[in-house]
Amino acid sequence: MTTGRIHHQILPAGIANVFIDNPAKKNAMSFEMWTQLLDTIEQLSANNAAKVIVIQGEGGEAFCSGADITQFSEVRTEANSAQFDELTRLTTVQLSKSPKPTVAAIRGYCLGGGLNLALSCDIRIADSTARFALPPARLGIAYPGYALSNLVSAVGEQAAKYLLYTARRITAADALEFGLLARVIEADSFESELISLANDIAVNAPLSIRATKIGIASIRASDGTTEEPAFMELVEKCYSSEDYREGTAAFKEKRAPIFKGS
Ligand code: COA
Repeated sequence: MTTGRIHHQILPAGIANVFIDNPAKKNAMSFEMWTQLLDTIEQLSANNAAKVIVIQGEGGEAFCSGADITQFSEVRTEANSAQFDELTRLTTVQLSKSPKPTVAAIRGYCLGGGLNLALSCDIRIADSTARFALPPARLGIAYPGYALSNLVSAVGEQAAKYLLYTARRITAADALEFGLLARVIEADSFESELISLANDIAVNAPLSIRATKIGIASIRASDGTTEEPAFMELVEKCYSSEDYREGTAAFKEKRAPIFKGS
């Protein structure tokens, strides 16, 4: 039986495309795929060639239909569900805490664990065909805290409860209105808009983006306090960086900056 796979490719511009590849199951994530995704994000987070990580579903029909339900009787039983939750938690934390900026590029279905994955990315964009749902109440399971926290932080308590209590499927337009997405793009221009977005991120100053990522995460963690030492350190590091000098020099010289991440 197919368990799918995660594969990736780093483009010369520094765009690391990561593919969720299990089309026979609408890109459902098997246990093996969660493990591969964790490894992939770990590797890319440490790879200087990767400037931005973009996660997408192979084939364009689905981003991800959630965890592979056919494996639940094996990997998500009363006896071992904690192990499954720990693997998915580690994967999503790895994404949320990656020093690289992350983008979820969503086409087609984005359901359950697939939506949780997308919620762990910094920016979510979708094409107009995308459909979203959180069906744990239909399957009789409940999400652990980290998944609820990502959701509530993106859409607020009202929309989170609406989605989880009803398990209703919503359109890309509704998802945009709920705050789940940064943008919805027409299907025929999605690919070019995605490349343009990823390029805009990849050419910008890595330290600046990293400080912003940690800063925004710390606002969420501490309810408004942004004085977390790691964050303050990164903000200061930006000011003493070569990239900061390069950015301001390029502006004055009316040319594109070339950033090095130092
Ligand atoms: N896990 C395992 N298999 C899945 C799956 C999942 N999360 N999602 C889809 N599949 C499989 C289907 O069982 C079907 O397999 P089959 O061809 O052997 O019958 C195949 O993918 C195609 O799905 P199908 O339901 O026929 O396509 P559809 O276009 O009618 O509907 C979905 C697609 C994604 C809306 C529907 O399959 C679905 O609701 N999936 C479950 C989503 C879910 O509850 N996810 C949360 C998991 S925590």
